[in-house]
Amino acid sequence: MKYSKNELLIEVQGVSLSYDKQILRDINFRIHNIVRPDVNQGQVISLIGRSGIGKTQLFKILAGLIQPGSGTVKVGLDQHPVVAGEVGIVAQNYILFNHRTVHDNLRLAMKHSSNTQNDKEKDALINEYAEKFDLAEHLKKYPMQLSGGQRQRASIIQQVLTGNRFILLDEPFSGLDALMIDRVMELLLGISTLHELNTLVIISHDVENSLAISDTAFILAREKDKEGATITETLDLIELGLAWNPNIRENQVFQTLVSQIKHKI
Ligand SMILES: Nc1ncnc2c1ncn2[C@@H]1O[C@H](COP(=O)(O)OP(=O)(O)OP(=O)(O)O)[C@@H](O)[C@H]1O
Ligand SMILES: [Mg+2]
Repeated sequence: MKYSKNELLIEVQGVSLSYDKQILRDINFRIHNIVRPDVNQGQVISLIGRSGIGKTQLFKILAGLIQPGSGTVKVGLDQHPVVAGEVGIVAQNYILFNHRTVHDNLRLAMKHSSNTQNDKEKDALINEYAEKFDLAEHLKKYPMQLSGGQRQRASIIQQVLTGNRFILLDEPFSGLDALMIDRVMELLLGISTLHELNTLVIISHDVENSLAISDTAFILAREKDKEGATITETLDLIELGLAWNPNIRENQVFQTLVSQIKHKI
């Protein structure tokens, strides 16, 4: 597969976090802009670790919502320290406003987007996404009237409409049935190829689904006799020949990798 890794988009250096005990220890990783001929290829990265390891804490640090005890998170082509609000976040407890319809939630997301679209153009874009991701008939409903999978997709689209290129997702597959997981995966893959700089960071304990859509995965685990979780392994799925293939879950090499990783987290 022909590709190159260009500009640095995200750099995490020496991130540690402690409460009464150490949660995260010396987390380091870099995400580069992947460029492929003839494809608007964005980045899909996953951070995989078991329950309680510190994923949501790392999510909050990457989003700029909490400060680490030490270390830095830099984002963007100019590599500035991350600021809360500039990163799209899809939290497990979705952040849609319950007193607004899905359509109005999506319109609100576009309020601050620095573009010159008028109301008609904004609605056209909302309708386009809604059509594409099976939400068209639900636009007039309130979030409480949606299923978990529909709310999850509305919440992801909402983040895309804000115009943020960098979107963090905490456990995007949990609580969804197999069909909805496939829909969410399609949506994420769709977003990752909408724009070259779109970068999705999926934080999850779901090894199989996370690896299936990622180009790179970082394993978050505890090393023997050491406190705090750190990155114990980096998987370059492009080099392994396992990236950018929608049917990868059926692949034998992929399945073997999934079971190996399940034993390591
Ligand atoms: N405000 C806090 N004060 C003290 N400890 C905390 C605080 N918030 C989280 N923790 C602890 O940090 C650890 C990691 O929590 P975190 O929510 O990041 O786990 P997680 O990997 O996201 O788990 P899950 O997969 O279940 O969501 C847990 O042991 C938790 O008890
Ligand atoms: Mg969590």
